[in-house]
Amino acid sequence: MRFLLLGYTEMNILIIGSGGREHALAWKIKQSRHCDDLYVAPGNAGSATVAQNVPIGVEDFDQLGQFARDKNIDLIVVGPEGALVNGIRDYFEADPSLNKILMVGPGKSGARLEGSKDFSKQFMVRNGIPTGKAKTFVASQLNEAYSYIDNLKPPIVLKADGLAAGKGVVISPTVAEAKNTIREMLEDKKFGEASTKVLIEEFLDGIELSVFVMTDGKNYAILPEAKDYKRIGDNDTGPNTGGMGAVSPVVFADAAFMKKVEEKVIKPTIAGLGKENIPYKGFVFIGLMNINGEPFVIEYNARMGDPETQVVLPRIDTDFVELLVATAKGELTSGPVPQKNEVAMTVVMVAKGYPESYEKGKVIDGLSKVKDGIVFHAGTKNNGNEVVTNGGRVLAVTGIGTSLVDASAKAYSAVSSIRWDGLYFRKDIGNDLNKWAGSLS
Ligand code: AMP
Ligand code: GLY
Repeated sequence: MRFLLLGYTEMNILIIGSGGREHALAWKIKQSRHCDDLYVAPGNAGSATVAQNVPIGVEDFDQLGQFARDKNIDLIVVGPEGALVNGIRDYFEADPSLNKILMVGPGKSGARLEGSKDFSKQFMVRNGIPTGKAKTFVASQLNEAYSYIDNLKPPIVLKADGLAAGKGVVISPTVAEAKNTIREMLEDKKFGEASTKVLIEEFLDGIELSVFVMTDGKNYAILPEAKDYKRIGDNDTGPNTGGMGAVSPVVFADAAFMKKVEEKVIKPTIAGLGKENIPYKGFVFIGLMNINGEPFVIEYNARMGDPETQVVLPRIDTDFVELLVATAKGELTSGPVPQKNEVAMTVVMVAKGYPESYEKGKVIDGLSKVKDGIVFHAGTKNNGNEVVTNGGRVLAVTGIGTSLVDASAKAYSAVSSIRWDGLYFRKDIGNDLNKWAGSLS
C-alpha cells in the first residue's frame, strides 16, 4: 500500500475468479484512483486486457497466499462461491503473514447463507424475513417427504441443500414428478453430497429480481438492482443456465418497493448476522420474488451475480475501491450507493451445446469491431494472437444507454459484430420489461 501526498492510498489488488463477473470487477476496479497493481487469478483473455492474469486456481489457497505475500497484495476480492464456502477467508485469517490483507468475501460461517439452503431458510425464519414456507428432508424421511408433497398444490419446488452449480433447484409440475425427483435427489444422490438434504418449498408466483448489498456485518450499501434471464431459450424456455443476460435498473423495482426490500429484507438480514455472531464482510446477493409489490426471498448468495455484475458495476457512480475497502475494514455507511441515471443491459453469448456439454477452442472474430459496447469475457483464453472460446458462457456484451431500448440496441449491435463457429445468444433480453420502458426521466 502506498500513501500518496494527495491524501489517498494506492493498493495492490487481487481478484479471484475467471468469469465475466471477474472481468467486470477488474474493469471497474481499474478505474479507481486507488488501484495500483491489479491481478486476476486465474482470469481470462478479457481480464488480461485490464489486469495481469495469474495462473492459480480459485481454491488453491496455499498458492494464493504465497502470491499475496510476494506481491504485497493489500486487498482481495473473491468472485466465486466455491472459494468462500471452502474457507478462503478462514485460511487467510488463520495465517499471521496474511491476516492483515483486506478481503471482500465472508468466511465459511457467513458463506452458509449460500452454501446451505437449509441453513439460509432457517436463518430467514429466525429473523422474520419474508420467504416461501419450506421443510427439509433427508433420505431416511422419504415417506414423510411423499406425504408432505401430497398436501401441496403443484408446481412444487425442490432444492438441494448444498452447492450444485446453479442446477440444484427443480420445479416439478405434478405431485408424481415431484415424488420421483425427490427420490432421485435423496436416494440416488442426483446432485451428489449437495442433495443429502432437500428442501420442499412453496412455489412463489411473482416477478423475480436480484438485489445486491455490500456489508461489513453492521452497515450495508445497496447497489443497483438487476434482473437476470436464467433459461437458455427466448421467452424463458428450456433448461436453466448460469444466466443468459441481465438488465439494470429493473423498472418494476420502484422506490416504494426498494424501501420495502430495505426494511423487510436487508435490515433484518444484516441484524440477523449480528445477532447470530456471524461476521460478514462481503457481498450479499438477494434473489427476490415481487408478489403484488411485496418482496419474498428466494435465496441468498454470498457473492455477486454473473452476469448481473456486468450491468450493476457500470451503473455505480462512485469509487468502487473505496466501497470495497470500507466493506473490508468495517467502515461502510448504510444506504443506497450513487447510481448513474442510465440503463445497462448485457447479452451473454454462449458456446454451442451449453448448458449441456459444449465445444471449446473456437476462434472468436470481431472483438475489435465493437464500437459502442463493453465486451466482458467469461469463458475465453488467449491462444497465440487469437482469442478462443474456453467455456460455456463465452462473452457478456453490455450496452449502456439512456433507455432500455437504447441499451438493448447497443448491446445487440455489439453482439452482431462478434462471430465464432456455433455461437448462440438469446434475442429477447429485456423484452419483458419493454412495457415499462422509455426514457428514464
Ligand atoms: P436458485 O438456484 O435458488 O437461484 O433457484 C433457481 C430459480 O428457481 C430461481 O431463480 C427461481 O426462478 C426459481 N425458484 C426458486 N425458488 C422458487 C420458489 N419458491 N418459487 C418459485 N420459483 C422459485
Ligand atoms: N446469475 C445468477 C447467479 O450468479 O447466481
